[in-house]
Formats: sequence, C-alpha cells, structure tokens
Amino acid sequence: MRSVKTVDEAGSSAPFEPPPRTRPVALRELPWALPTMLAPLEGITHPTFRRMMVEQGGIGIVCTEFVRITSNPVSRRHMGRVVDHAPGTPLSVQVMGNDVERMADAARLVAAAGADVVDINLGCPAPRVVRKGVGSAMLKDPQLLFEVLCAMRSEVPGLLSAKIRAGFDDADNVVRIARCVESAGVDYLVVHPRRRSDFYEGVADWRIIRTLKEELSIPVVGNGDCWYAADALRMQKETGCDAVMLGRPALRNPWIFAQIEALYRGVEAYRPSGADIFEWLLRLRREFAHTFDYEGDAPIGRIKELVSWLGRSVDDGGRFRRAALREPDIDAVLRLTEQNVAPLPPEQIDLAASPLIGLERSGTGLQTPQD
Ligand SMILES: Cc1cc2nc3c(=O)[nH]c(=O)nc-3n(C[C@H](O)[C@H](O)[C@H](O)COP(=O)(O)O)c2cc1C
Repeated sequence: MRSVKTVDEAGSSAPFEPPPRTRPVALRELPWALPTMLAPLEGITHPTFRRMMVEQGGIGIVCTEFVRITSNPVSRRHMGRVVDHAPGTPLSVQVMGNDVERMADAARLVAAAGADVVDINLGCPAPRVVRKGVGSAMLKDPQLLFEVLCAMRSEVPGLLSAKIRAGFDDADNVVRIARCVESAGVDYLVVHPRRRSDFYEGVADWRIIRTLKEELSIPVVGNGDCWYAADALRMQKETGCDAVMLGRPALRNPWIFAQIEALYRGVEAYRPSGADIFEWLLRLRREFAHTFDYEGDAPIGRIKELVSWLGRSVDDGGRFRRAALREPDIDAVLRLTEQNVAPLPPEQIDLAASPLIGLERSGTGLQTPQD
C-alpha cells in the first residue's frame, strides 16, 4: 500500500482541519500566455474541438473532459492517448475517481505522457457519478479527498489542479474544502460557484470566488456564467481571480476567447454575424467528418448539441434551435441555418463582447444573484 498522510497524522484536530500546506513553494502566478481556460466538457472537448477552439485564438490552456478512474488497473496506453495537444497550447488532463492508488497511478501516467496540468474533477453533479462517490460527492469526504490529493501530488512533478463546486448541498464548507486542497499541495484551484444541488440552476455566485481568492495563497481560477467577453474581465475585477475558465459560453460563442483577448489589449472586439455562425457550422461538419464515423448517429448528435448552444444567440424566442433539433440530418440543419441565421447582421446576434441584446444572465461578485 502506498503510504499517504491522513489529515490527523498531519497534525490537525477533528473533525477536519487541514494541515499546513505540503508543497514548499506555492505557485504565485499561472504560467500561461493568457489567463483564459477552455473548460472540460464531457462529450464535447475532444481533441478536434479543442484544436478548433485554439485556432479561434485567445485561449491560455485547454482541458480534456474527465477520464474516469475506477479501482481497475490504469492502462499506460489509455492514459497516454488522452494527452493530445492542440499545437502551441498547454493541455490540462482531468481525472475523476476516489481510489487513492489508482488516482496516483493515473496522475503519474498522464504527467509522464506530457500533460501540462493534471486536474481532479471534484464538481461533476451527475447522479451516475455521485452514486459512485466521485466528482462532487468527494466534497463530502475531505479526509478521503486529502488522501487522494496527497497521493496524486507525490506522483506529479508539474502542475496539479483541482476543480470544485461550492459544496454538495450547501456552500458552508467551501473554504475548508479549498484549504484541504491547498494543504495537499495542489498548485491552483478552479471553482465553479454553484452547489451540487444547484446542477446548473440559478446564476453562479462569484462572491464565493472572491472569498476563496482572499483565503488561499494559491492561484484561484473563476468559472461560471461568463456569458459575454466583458464578463471575464468583470469577474477578474470583482473577485480578484487569477484566470477565468469558460465552458458553455464558448459553445454559444466560439469567438469569445478572441474577444476577451481584444478587451485585455484594449482593442475593439470582433462582433460575429449570422454568416459567421453558418461558417462555423460548416467547419464543424468538415472537421468532425475526419474525426467521427459519419455512418453512426454520433456526429448528428454532436453537431445538434453544438447548434443548440449556438442557437441561443439568435433572438427569436428559441424557434431556430427547436427547428434545428427536429431536423433529420446535418444537411437539413445546415440548410435551415443558411436560411434563418446566415442573413442576420451582427446587431441581431447576441454575440457582442458586452450584453447589448442580453439574452443570457451572467454572474456577479457584488450582490446576491437573483434566481
Ligand atoms: C455538457 C457539459 C459537460 C461537462 N463536463 C465536465 C467535465 O468533464 N469535467 C468538469 O470538471 N466539468 C464539466 N462540466 C462543467 C464545466 O466545466 C463548467 O464548470 C460549467 O459548465 C460552468 O461553467 P460555464 O458557465 O462557463 O459553462 C461540464 C458541463 C457541461 C455543460
């Protein structure tokens, strides 16, 4: 058995007080060229999509979706295959599990295969995941969490990160959980400030990001409801977070990272039109055709999922999205997009860097979010 420190051995008092940080030197700054991250998105952030997003510009680091680690032995080949870089951009590989030995093995293998960051999923709210005691369920067991993180830490010479939600049923323990993560020697923390019980309801409470930034000495990455490029800068201003991570907003607006970069540089951000959305869909079809088997039903499902996000920027009460989801094949989806979306000028598409049309509700760090 691998020897791991328990919280108690490390000198804390019951029930759970994290010991001092084990890693001698805390990371002060995130090392990427831009403080922006493409979030892990199960079923979506495969290598082809990651590369397409990187080519859009403005991304500091991309993340893989979670790799589930069970109590079965971890295969070197499988873990090595996951490490697939988009040219010129760092890659964070996410693992999810609660078996101390296997999580350490997985961390060692992905680090050795060249992952720039090894990340642990502590936020997935899905019942199938929670039933197995992993993802957000780990937030309920800080002792086990600490053991898993210490074991991973001892196997990862480079960067180790953790992605948490604000809590399971309540957010009362979020600071203690974050301290537990920090004490285990994790280099930076990503926080999506919703509880597991929220799933994706309501609006992310950025005040929690601010609290963690104030309480921790490691960098904190904020994640959740940055629907417009300007929100990313506002999140940093209101919370002090070191970087922003975007998931669903990047599916809805694939230009958002480039817009954020433009805002950082103080230049005008590009405002996409309906024709840009149509072009993006054509590109998705072309790229996915190389990646996936078009005989199966996966590509139409994958493309419809993305159309559904893109369609949220069309100010038509959801008519385009609903119609697209009813179409039988990709050609029909494209025809519909060409007719209904491609002619729309930027002023009629809600993809400006600021919420000029404002179809989405962004987070806030200054007041209680309204449900
Ligand atoms: C379809 C989908 C799949 C997701 N898959 C993962 C995942 O594999 N790992 C993870 O840590 N979070 C996952 N998430 C959560 C996102 O990474 C992110 O935390 C969440 O969407 C909130 O950020 P956003 O408002 O920028 O989308 C997923 C979210 C969605 C909508």
